[in-house]
Amino acid sequence: MARLIAVLVGLGFCLVLLISVITGAANLIREGKPETVEAVFHKHPKHLTLASDGPLGKFNRRQLQRGFQVYKEVCSACHSLKYVAFRNLTDLGYSDAEVKAIADQWAVQTPSVNPETGEPATRKNVPSDRFPHPYPNDVAARAANNNALPPDLSLMTKARHGGAAYVYSILTGYQDQPPALLKKFPGAVTPTGLHYNPYFANLNIAMPPPLVAEGQVTYADGTKSTVNQMAKDIAAFLTWTAEPKMESRHETGLAVMVFLIFFTILTYLAYQNVWAEKKREKAAA
Ligand code: HEC
Repeated sequence: MARLIAVLVGLGFCLVLLISVITGAANLIREGKPETVEAVFHKHPKHLTLASDGPLGKFNRRQLQRGFQVYKEVCSACHSLKYVAFRNLTDLGYSDAEVKAIADQWAVQTPSVNPETGEPATRKNVPSDRFPHPYPNDVAARAANNNALPPDLSLMTKARHGGAAYVYSILTGYQDQPPALLKKFPGAVTPTGLHYNPYFANLNIAMPPPLVAEGQVTYADGTKSTVNQMAKDIAAFLTWTAEPKMESRHETGLAVMVFLIFFTILTYLAYQNVWAEKKREKAAA
């Protein structure tokens, strides 16, 4: 008896679920998705090709160095890079002496303690330090940025759909609000202090356009620093910060694939060899 009741109750639940699914689907078909300004005007990242793309991609060291220059001269004013240490820059082709000089001359020093007085102090960076945070803490960071927190950039290309292409698109995607948007959604005017950028999820980003003029960064290798070039270079650099060991992962992957193919052939030949006699016997019989 108890089992029968349990079955009936279960069936009752299933019925209610079924009814709600059917009415929900019917409503969706009848009314369609609600049209929001984000649904209509948000854009997917632009296309970006980097040397590190694909299963055999390798970093373009010169581009990474240019990207680092963009980080140093522009982005580091607001964004931290807390998972990267100065000494990691040797991966980009800088010598130990150069890395030492970069750390020593970095605009923001590392928090420390005065050994004489015990008072809080700062000291110059050394190669084993991570890149120091531009602000003392998140409260100060928000206070300086209209209450928006500039996120850490170390893993940004892994954290956003589109990766490097997303970063590139955000940096080159600032524009005026399209008239069609204001016509359709008169209430969606970009609030003061924010900037219209169709590649950002809610279309209005708190970051002022960081790359605005050609020649903003003077590249050490003489490359012409157009806004487009700087955006590509910093996107490449942030791909490296998010996965500095990508090249060795690619190399290991290739070696593993070659080994597996070789091993497959070997196994097949061994199989043929083991059964060859049986097959001959069967053919003779
Ligand atoms: C004046 C300070 C400032 C500078 C300089 C700056 N940013 Fe930002 N950035 C911000 C703030 C503030 C936000 C948070 C925006 C928001 O949440 O609306 C942000 C957000 C971002 C985001 C994240 C967007 C997301 O999806 O959350 C990326 C990527 C980014 N910045 C990259 C850069 C790069 C690359 C540079 C250098 C070329 C740079 N920023 C320079 C202040 C700055």
